[in-house]
Amino acid sequence: MTVRHTDYPGEGLAEAELAPTPLAQVQRWVADAEARQAGRGDVPEPTALSVATVDAAGVPNVRTVLMRFLDGRGPGFVTDLGSAKSTEIAATGGIAAALTWPSMYRAVRFRGRAVAIERGEIEAYFVARPWGSRISAWASEQSRPVVDRVALVAAYDHFAARYPDAGSPDDVPVPDGWGGWRIDCDEVELWAGRRDRLHDRLVYVRAGDGGLDDPGAWTVLRRQP
Ligand SMILES: Cc1cc2nc3c(=O)[nH]c(=O)nc-3n(C[C@H](O)[C@H](O)[C@H](O)COP(=O)(O)O)c2cc1C
Repeated sequence: MTVRHTDYPGEGLAEAELAPTPLAQVQRWVADAEARQAGRGDVPEPTALSVATVDAAGVPNVRTVLMRFLDGRGPGFVTDLGSAKSTEIAATGGIAAALTWPSMYRAVRFRGRAVAIERGEIEAYFVARPWGSRISAWASEQSRPVVDRVALVAAYDHFAARYPDAGSPDDVPVPDGWGGWRIDCDEVELWAGRRDRLHDRLVYVRAGDGGLDDPGAWTVLRRQP
C-alpha cells in the first residue's frame, strides 16, 4: 500500500445552505451523486450504503448494500432476513450506515435503530427486480456456508425450474425469508472534505419525535473535523 496525502479541494458545506430537513439534504446530495455519475461517471454506485451492525456479544460487523428506499421514515435496504446482518439487527436493533462519495469529497452517516420494512413495500420492490435476481433470492441462504459454487448454481437451477421466467412480475413469489430494514435515525451527519483536513461536519440531531422530513424534529450542530 502506498500512503498518499491527497488534499480535498471540496466546496464544503455551510449552515446557511443546509436544507431544513435531513431528508431534503440527503436527497439533494444523492441527486448530486447520481448526476455526477451520469456526467463524469466517477460515482459508479451512488446509493452504495455501508451498513454496520453489532452482534449480541458486541462484536461489530460491516458490509455494503444498496439503498433502495429513502423517505421520512429513513433510508432502507433489502436483504435476506436470515443473513448475518439481519441476525445481528434482531439481537441488538442498533444500526449505523454511510453513503460515501470520495470523488465528491462527501459522505453521509446515519445512526439509529433498525425497523423491518413492511411486507407490502417489500413485495412491491421484489416484483421490479430482474427475474434472475428474484431466483437468486430463493437460491441463496445468505451468509450461511455452501460447499462450493456448483452447489450454489444447482440451487439456482432448481428454483429457476420451479419458477420459470414467464416475463411476468409475479412469476416468482417473494421468499418468506427475504425482506428489508429501514434506519429510524437519531442523527444524520453530512461530511464535506476540505483543504488541509479542515473539513465540515454538520449533524442533524434528533430533538423530538418526527420523521426525516419534519423540520421540528431536528436540531443542527457542527462537529470538529
Ligand atoms: C455494491 C454492493 C451492493 C450490494 N448490495 C446488497 C444489497 O442490496 N443487499 C444485500 O443483502 N447484500 C448486498 N451486497 C452484498 C453485501 O455486501 C454482503 O456481502 C451480504 O449482504 C452479506 O452480508 P452479511 O453476511 O453481513 O449479512 C452488496 C455488495 C456490494 C459490494
